[in-house]
Amino acid sequence: MAGSPRFIVLLGPPGAGKGTQAQVLGKILGLAHVSSGDLFREQIRAQTELGRLAKGYMDGGQLVPDTVTVAMVRERLKREDCLRGAILDGFPRTPAQAEALDQMLLEQWGCKVERVPYVRIPESTLVERLSGRWTCQQEGHVYHQKFHPPIVAGKCDIDGSALYQREDDREDTVRQRIRVYLEQTAPLVEYYRQRGVLVEIDGDAPITQVTEALVQGMGAG
Ligand code: AP5
Repeated sequence: MAGSPRFIVLLGPPGAGKGTQAQVLGKILGLAHVSSGDLFREQIRAQTELGRLAKGYMDGGQLVPDTVTVAMVRERLKREDCLRGAILDGFPRTPAQAEALDQMLLEQWGCKVERVPYVRIPESTLVERLSGRWTCQQEGHVYHQKFHPPIVAGKCDIDGSALYQREDDREDTVRQRIRVYLEQTAPLVEYYRQRGVLVEIDGDAPITQVTEALVQGMGAG
């Protein structure tokens, strides 16, 4: 229905390519890209109380508690760029967050999550992807030294800001993040499958192919 708000949840393990794809899809579909990880990193850069709290969990590869995460995302979704909906990247990540999102969408927009692309990828690929990742300081644009290098080494193609490697991309932390994903986030695959909104996408393919599969899975291609 034209004009109805659209909320799309990108689901998948750390390094599956959620951020990479959410940025492209946001442009294709004309929707805001809301990344809970980026929101936490903004708070860390701004040295807020929330940033200090989140950093402790993030550096250890643990999830930030549901109550603070839900409150932060709720505030973000109130911004004007989300009036038409959003692509949610990294949220929800627990059954409690998924239920909170359902309630938020119903109360504020009178709608439900429209589609949940689940980006599947073998665990062996994830560590290589994350250890080669470079992220831009300014807006979190994502590169990979081998699979998606910037035009000028160390600089973001889009905003020119310096690229850095995330602290939680160290191999031991990555393995911990994958464990946490399997325990706390993987159950959401069934949660959304039962609601009939899950679309499985093969994430172990070149970036442009994954984008095509996502667009098709969304019924927009
Ligand atoms: P967050 O920032 O959300 O990290 P994540 O979910 O672990 O996901 P990543 O950003 O690591 O990976 P991605 O899937 O976006 O992959 P990307 O596109 O970058 O969360 C970080 C932390 O914040 C959490 O551990 C937690 O502490 C906290 N947090 C966040 N949300 C929370 C929540 N809701 N509740 C509680 N805590 C929360 O790609 C990875 C690399 O691969 C890049 O270099 C990219 O260029 C490359 N690449 C991408 N696609 C391809 C491809 N198809 N082929 C080859 N290379 C590719």
